[in-house]
Amino acid sequence: MAKDPMRVLVTGAAGQIGYALVPMIARGAMLGPDQPVIIHMLDIEPAAEALKGVTMELIDAAFPLLKGIVATTNAVEACKGVNVAIMVGGFPRKEEMERKDMMSKNVSIYKAQASALEQHAAPNCKVLVVANPANTNALILKEFAPSIQEKNISCLTRLDHNRALGQISERLKVHVGDVKNVIIWGNHSSTQYPDVNHATVNTGKEWKPVRELVSDGQWLNTEFITTVQQRGAAIIKARKLSSALSAASAACDHMHDWILGTPKGTWVSMGVCSDGSYGIQPGLIYSFPVTCEKGEWSMVQGLQIDEFSKAKMDATAKELIEEKALAYSCLN
Ligand code: NAD
Ligand code: LMR
Repeated sequence: MAKDPMRVLVTGAAGQIGYALVPMIARGAMLGPDQPVIIHMLDIEPAAEALKGVTMELIDAAFPLLKGIVATTNAVEACKGVNVAIMVGGFPRKEEMERKDMMSKNVSIYKAQASALEQHAAPNCKVLVVANPANTNALILKEFAPSIQEKNISCLTRLDHNRALGQISERLKVHVGDVKNVIIWGNHSSTQYPDVNHATVNTGKEWKPVRELVSDGQWLNTEFITTVQQRGAAIIKARKLSSALSAASAACDHMHDWILGTPKGTWVSMGVCSDGSYGIQPGLIYSFPVTCEKGEWSMVQGLQIDEFSKAKMDATAKELIEEKALAYSCLN
């Protein structure tokens, strides 16, 4: 029997990630090839004409799974009955802008959209915040939408996770699908900690630790980490625009695995609400390793953390605590 359509909200849908993301959703890359979708697209008035263009293209693409489109500049209309919300809309940092100004604009947006989602989304709606500062926007959304269960609010660090897999695969000249269980700890920022201490590679016969296969351990502790931390900046430098196709693809991976499950023996990184595991302040939206089953994520527990890792995990937590304080000072 055909499934009922799921309603998927994409905010900032006229922007560059939105433009890459909506066709992926309409092709089934996010929710599966047998899951019909109704795509809700929200943007702001200055982007209304561009949003019309995206709507026309979605119609012209004749996607079999796409059962309807809601394109609007009204947040209430956009949020009505949505089962999945991908929050991409936001104010990007301009060259002359202070971080505090960027933070101030975005946390105000996320406070307002928290109310629209909490009042109008479907019960059990799953939320993924992509827009930067992603962890702190998600934190504000969680705090101003108290009736949305906190386990349903997340932020995107899967792009960083995929970048880490990509770097190991390039280094070892193996296919990226043969690398698994890297971890991104913390903030989607340059303080994030990409950790390979539990990552493994498929040699054809068995899965071997990355640390056994990469002969230069120093590279793993230095250049590998900074390359992943700085990858977003490197893409902005090369493209003069921030990452879009990889960000859209990672958003699909994040939601796909959350709803449809992670493969046995594999974990992924998601920014989720800390419960105090690994000594991270409870309530922060922090990236952890998780496995997913039947639409629920569970944190991977009991991993051995050495001193080097602990210092890096705490440094990125410290940045998130500072961001939280800055966000609240902007809202006051
Ligand atoms: P963009 O500027 O091309 O698009 C942003 C869109 O959001 C624009 O269309 C804008 O009109 C819209 N918008 C602004 N305020 C809005 C509001 N109140 N409601 C709805 N829409 C609104 O930017 P982009 O390249 O698509 O990136 C979007 C965000 O994603 C940025 O914050 C970027 O830094 C972030 N990003 C995050 C990751 C990640 O891994 N977490 C990766 C790449 C980019
Ligand atoms: C990325 O990781 O590619 C982006 O978050 C970079 C940015 O600042 O938009």
